[in-house]
Amino acid sequence: MSDNFDSTTGSTGQVRFFNPGPVWVRPQVIQALTGPMMSHRSQAFMDLYGRIQEKLPKVFRTKGAVHTLASSATGVWESVLVSCVEGPVLACSNGSFSDKWGEMGKRLGLETDVLKVEWGKPILADDVRKKLAEKKYAAVTVVHNETSTGTISDLAAIAKAVRDNSDALVFADCVTSLAGTRVETDAWGLDAAITGSQKALALPPGLAVFSVSERAMAAAKKKKFRGLYLDLVDIEAFALKKQTPTTPCISLLYALDVQLDHILAEGIENRWARHDAMLKAVEEWAPKAGFRFFPEKGAQSPTVSALIPPEGVNAEELNKKMKAEKWTPGSGYGKLKATSIRIGHMGDVDVASVKALCAAYERVAAGLSSPAKVGA
Ligand SMILES: Cc1ncc(COP(=O)(O)O)c(C=O)c1O
Repeated sequence: MSDNFDSTTGSTGQVRFFNPGPVWVRPQVIQALTGPMMSHRSQAFMDLYGRIQEKLPKVFRTKGAVHTLASSATGVWESVLVSCVEGPVLACSNGSFSDKWGEMGKRLGLETDVLKVEWGKPILADDVRKKLAEKKYAAVTVVHNETSTGTISDLAAIAKAVRDNSDALVFADCVTSLAGTRVETDAWGLDAAITGSQKALALPPGLAVFSVSERAMAAAKKKKFRGLYLDLVDIEAFALKKQTPTTPCISLLYALDVQLDHILAEGIENRWARHDAMLKAVEEWAPKAGFRFFPEKGAQSPTVSALIPPEGVNAEELNKKMKAEKWTPGSGYGKLKATSIRIGHMGDVDVASVKALCAAYERVAAGLSSPAKVGA
């Protein structure tokens, strides 16, 4: 990795790693993982966790609490459902991850209705509103940015539709949106905003990071059986002591402390703007090179571009050639595996690196296609 970064400023047009999570991680963050071990009941730990607790709400845009859990993000999907919900759940689904959250509701024995939307199309607030008019739900689950299809939905409008038309809790998967594009936890009325360390926060995987509203906590406190490991009531009680109920991943917390300083120094709005610029670079390049976006126009994600290669170019073959050139691109996800590629432009990657990747894709695709078809 030594020639892929500048040790002071992060990436410099040299990053070749575009997996849509785990993402490229700055060397300073890798270095921070090597901090000394300590007891998670020590003052040193409480100092570390206290610093993190002060910084995280600025990234989540909330005045409320933001917690961490030694788990991947999926663990918090389960945490909010087992801790807060007894009644029916409305699961909005427009891709692989949102579909899985709905499946989780069913497996937990919760009555779960799925609002199914075609892959590549965003979830629309109007459709959510119609579902809420038919039935009273305890919670609505929604994935802000469907990583499987590179499709972003208008989470602000969806949350408003839920808040204006029901008492349902709004649980938002912001796994590939938070710290990469605008997420306003308080202003949008999100009862939980959930992410994982390995996405736009640009840390190694293993840590879930999430906000919980007072409304959601009130629901949890009323629920009798909440399990143990994922119980939000326990998590909140320990957070008040600057601790976690079970052993935290201390190494990742060291890294998070350092990375939050970096994110706040960049400025959260500047970080969103850099992600917009990375999407724009792909949008300007793709049609010229014969690549098509999979998502509907206007719903392209600022953190991950799902693209269909030029006619005659096999997506899997294309990525194989890219890997041979020492790029790490993202493959298509789920049922799109054979037909699409994904460029994860999230975290600390820069526009120049994205443009270099696009140029490489264009050259490699041209070598795989008959000349007449490229750009057609
Ligand atoms: C939108 C979204 N939600 C949830 C997940 C699952 O996250 P994890 O693997 O951290 O549990 C992913 C992983 O890629 C994702 O992209």
